[in-house]
Amino acid sequence: MRHDSDQAPASERGTAPRRGPATGRDGTGKRPAVVLRGASKTYGRGRAEVHALREADLEVPEGELVVLLGPSGSGKTTLLNLIGGIEPPSAGEVLAGGRDLSRLDEDGRTAYRRDTVGFVFQFFNLVPSLTALENVRLVAELTGRGDRERSAAALAAVGLDERGSHFPAQLSGGEQQRVAIARAIAKDPALLLCDEPTGALDLDTGRGVLRVLQDLNGEGRTVLIVTHNAAIAAMAHRVVRMRSGRIVEVAENAAPAPAEEVTW
Ligand SMILES: Nc1ncnc2c1ncn2[C@@H]1O[C@H](COP(=O)(O)OP(=O)(O)O)[C@@H](O)[C@H]1O
Ligand SMILES: [Mg+2]
Repeated sequence: MRHDSDQAPASERGTAPRRGPATGRDGTGKRPAVVLRGASKTYGRGRAEVHALREADLEVPEGELVVLLGPSGSGKTTLLNLIGGIEPPSAGEVLAGGRDLSRLDEDGRTAYRRDTVGFVFQFFNLVPSLTALENVRLVAELTGRGDRERSAAALAAVGLDERGSHFPAQLSGGEQQRVAIARAIAKDPALLLCDEPTGALDLDTGRGVLRVLQDLNGEGRTVLIVTHNAAIAAMAHRVVRMRSGRIVEVAENAAPAPAEEVTW
């Protein structure tokens, strides 16, 4: 387990450590966590055909925090869904978690998602009739890792150890999103995929969520954040820019900013 159950996240401590890029990375010999080769996704047929993603090539080294940036409709969610095994590519290859996702059938993708990927969405998607802790356990149980201690540790890792018995309606938006992050990490996934995780939050609350994501990345987890908010790119090791279904730029950032400095 990589959770630190003794400390609130830096966002709740008075003196947040300024976490730069994950330590110990020397820029060489990093294994790719995700590789796309000519990955495309087309929806519909004939006149209704939509090229949501066109021949995407991308390598995401293990342990990086990557921001996928682009306007609405540019293919960000489509790309994330291919990496997350939610959908297969129409063409090309998607390699992640040691598997070639383009060759997996639906059952194979389900197993890959369950064992390898944590998902965080814009609108939290918590079950309103379950407490925070029960929401975390519900998903962790799918992987056989739904024990109370592990789920409680995940809540502690996002600074919510005191709120486990609260229902979503009793929590602020930022707290709900942190429960959703705890739910995603309770099974200890290698990959954390976040689709507009601050899209429904104000600046301060959004920064708190970004701090949690940066801390999780600092522990060695590979984190992908999809956003249309260019400000968030400042905290990435790598920024992937998309437009009209294409990756138009991939830029490395030698000095990612701490989440506290992100502003919009
Ligand atoms: N299931 C789908 N069926 C048809 N078109 C889709 C589907 N999902 C996405 N699209 C289309 O693909 C394009 C890219 O969508 P999306 O990946 O959701 O963009 P973004 O996340 O950047 O806003 C858009 O034109 C969208 O309407
Ligand atoms: Mg989207």
